[in-house]
Amino acid sequence: MDLGSEGRTSETIRLADYRPTPYAITEVRLDFRLDLDGTRVVAETLFRRRDGIAAGTPLVLDGDELDLAEIRLDGAPLPPDAWTATPQRLEVRTPPADDFHLTVTTWLDPERNTKLMGLYRTSGNWCTQCEAEGFRRITYFLDRPDVLAVYTTRIEAPRAAAPYLLSNGNRIDAGDVPGTDRHFAVWHDPFPKPAYLFAMVAGTFERIADRFVTASGREVALEIYVEPGRGARTAHAMDSLKRSMRWDETEYGREYDLDVFMIVAVDDFNMGAMENKGLNVFNEKYVLADSETATDADYAHVEGVIAHEYFHNWTGNRITCRDWFQLCLKEGLTVFRDQDFSGDQRSRPVKRIADVRLLKSHQFPEDAGPLAHPVRPSTYREINNFYTATVYEKGAEVVRMLKTLIGADGFRAGMDLYFARHDGSAATIEDFLACFADATGRDLERFKLWYTQSGTPDVMVSTHWDASAGRLRLTFDQTALPTPGQPVKAPMVVPIRFGLVGPSGDDLAWERVSGAEVAGDVIVLDGAHHEVVFEGVTARPVPSLLRGFSAPVRLTLGSDTADLLHLMSHDRDPFNRWQAGQALAMRALISGTQAARTGQTVEIDPALASAFAAVAADESLDTAFRALAITLPNDADVAREIGTDVDPDAIATAIEQLRARVATAGRATFRRIHAEMASSGPYRADAEAAGRRALRNAVLDHLVRAGDGDLAAQRYRQADNMTDRLAALTAAVTVGLPSAEDLLADFYQRFAGDPLVIDKWLMVQATAPRAETLDRVRALTAHPAFAATNPNRVRALITTFATGNQTQFNRADGAGFAFVADQVLMLDRINPQVAARLLSAFRSWRALEPRRRAYAEAELKRIVAAPDLSRDVADIAGRSLE
Ligand code: PHE
Ligand code: ZN
Repeated sequence: MDLGSEGRTSETIRLADYRPTPYAITEVRLDFRLDLDGTRVVAETLFRRRDGIAAGTPLVLDGDELDLAEIRLDGAPLPPDAWTATPQRLEVRTPPADDFHLTVTTWLDPERNTKLMGLYRTSGNWCTQCEAEGFRRITYFLDRPDVLAVYTTRIEAPRAAAPYLLSNGNRIDAGDVPGTDRHFAVWHDPFPKPAYLFAMVAGTFERIADRFVTASGREVALEIYVEPGRGARTAHAMDSLKRSMRWDETEYGREYDLDVFMIVAVDDFNMGAMENKGLNVFNEKYVLADSETATDADYAHVEGVIAHEYFHNWTGNRITCRDWFQLCLKEGLTVFRDQDFSGDQRSRPVKRIADVRLLKSHQFPEDAGPLAHPVRPSTYREINNFYTATVYEKGAEVVRMLKTLIGADGFRAGMDLYFARHDGSAATIEDFLACFADATGRDLERFKLWYTQSGTPDVMVSTHWDASAGRLRLTFDQTALPTPGQPVKAPMVVPIRFGLVGPSGDDLAWERVSGAEVAGDVIVLDGAHHEVVFEGVTARPVPSLLRGFSAPVRLTLGSDTADLLHLMSHDRDPFNRWQAGQALAMRALISGTQAARTGQTVEIDPALASAFAAVAADESLDTAFRALAITLPNDADVAREIGTDVDPDAIATAIEQLRARVATAGRATFRRIHAEMASSGPYRADAEAAGRRALRNAVLDHLVRAGDGDLAAQRYRQADNMTDRLAALTAAVTVGLPSAEDLLADFYQRFAGDPLVIDKWLMVQATAPRAETLDRVRALTAHPAFAATNPNRVRALITTFATGNQTQFNRADGAGFAFVADQVLMLDRINPQVAARLLSAFRSWRALEPRRRAYAEAELKRIVAAPDLSRDVADIAGRSLE
């Protein structure tokens, strides 16, 4: 039973209630004694009463499922009437007037900690996870981000079970415990930090060591710790780390600050990775990569997550958040930084398209449903439920817009000021924005709405071209639908990067513009309605708007097919070239879906069908871009665009039809490209080789659908790398080729000892858009490769089924919903965070057609009514039904 949340399920925390703690903590000494049958923690904490607080004000500390053994104040036992303790809370009634030490001893049972928060065991090792509120599962503490202290940590453990003993900062002592089989290490972190950045790891690892010399000439030891035998798969992670360190120096002038930077890869982890000071703990999925077991996408993810966690050292650790409402202060900013880094490492437009696809597929539906919340929420019941696409991805878009509005130099000046002003402290969004306002003199009051107002704005554009006057009028109307708690919306500041594409494909010049602020190639909307008039335009323009996706809005353009085809083949902004193709396909898919619901088919414009083959063959474009350009919108994209009364089966039919047309119209071209892109020579991981693989696999997908099924099996058997092998397997299973079962069996046999690869095998099966899939997924939950206690396995099989299989999760008989609801209830007993994330797959239930909607609602109600729900699941289920 989840004692941890009992009695707190309805407590709402509000930003408006923020108050500093009456006491500060200046120093913490932790002593971990690890044993195979339990852990003893002694925490000695130095408290200081804050100015203006009355002497004797009670000290109240947070706990979570704690087992208290002993408590002392300034070294002496406390009389029983001086304090009270429950597993959730410790109160000292009248603390001394001056600084005082509290020494608290707790007993932990990491073996049974399946929530993976606090101290837990993974693959026989000990590991902590403290963000957001895990430190209170280790000892009683002021467990909030605005309480910063200096930590000294002693770890003692049996040498055989834990040859490595790690914590934050620099190691200042180590040795044997005389007369025992135990040893110890002492770590000191000189940088004051909140408890959520604390980490301790102990166990058996393979260690890979390297070094980095900072811009100012300091030498830093780099260490990656992985399960023994996996060291050979860390080269890419180490290389990514070094490039990240250099990039933060050249782009932001930020150097690393300790003598050692450590990364530990673990198998059981709730999230992607964690930026603990000097000791990042990673889900091993984002560390390990080699050509046999990782796809090119995996390589890119490893690079991005390594960079993200490293960049947190400045944006998150040196400057942290005042409270959890400010989570986007570190997350949105750090995602922006890692996206920018990755854009520099590979093709910038390709990276941008990937990021926008992620934003639209994860954040847009969140913002359009019952779980919508502002980038900076103003209330929460369970903070774990706010590590969302809105806080991360939309948070990054907001920083990107800020840079677009104030320019690269203004942005850098604002960041420099932010580091200078707030280093060593806990800041807010107001503090952050003030740095940019002060550095540039720009008023950012209205811009701040992006942090406080939820929902995706709609921008409708209409175009009027007066050829004889050489005048183009663009009319912009900005609206936004109500979201939970926010019935009425104010217009936002929307930067629209643009160009006027002329008949030859070049951008046209213009002489004057009125109706909105236009700075360079950016129109800045800040009201509900603008009429922007360009004078002196000498030829018929096709407006290319929202280039590079310059704002996270839904832009609706009246352009006709011919204009979109023109942009698709000429726009000098690659993002909008891609976008034009997607918009054309989307129109066809929406009419196709309407037709499918009444049993009809629509004619697909042959010009559209062949346009995709034309981009595929355009050698002036880079291969990775061509691969993206011929990848059609998927069923979730179409469902989102339709928005109400969604019938996933009708969408699937429309997609099948469009794919068949595109594949047939392009078959000759696709076959030629498939042959041309065959790799010559041994495998290479670089961007050029990855681009060729991406294009070859994108055309393979079309060819398999056009009847070249044998190609998939052939490609699978010839594959010398995971990218190609998985692409072939996925094509075979998705289309349901006769070879699919054999290939699946072969894949399992080849990789049976390798959980990360078996996750791919689970995912491929979970996404198959076929009626048998649900039974198969259910059967796989009993497969020896599956473990409900491991978040990666759960995500690969069950979350993938719920979020990546539109037709089968949303089955018309409701069986998909019932299965996922059962899994949520089962998982809630093991790991509430994982259960709550899975449950959020229901977030778009109201958009479904009535029959499916009723089934989904019934399952949500069943969950709400279940006894002893965690606060995590109760919060998501409750909000989903509101
Ligand atoms: N702060 C981590 C990151 O983004 C995410 C995380 C949150 C990890 C909570 C664990 C727990 O980078
Ligand atoms: Zn982060």
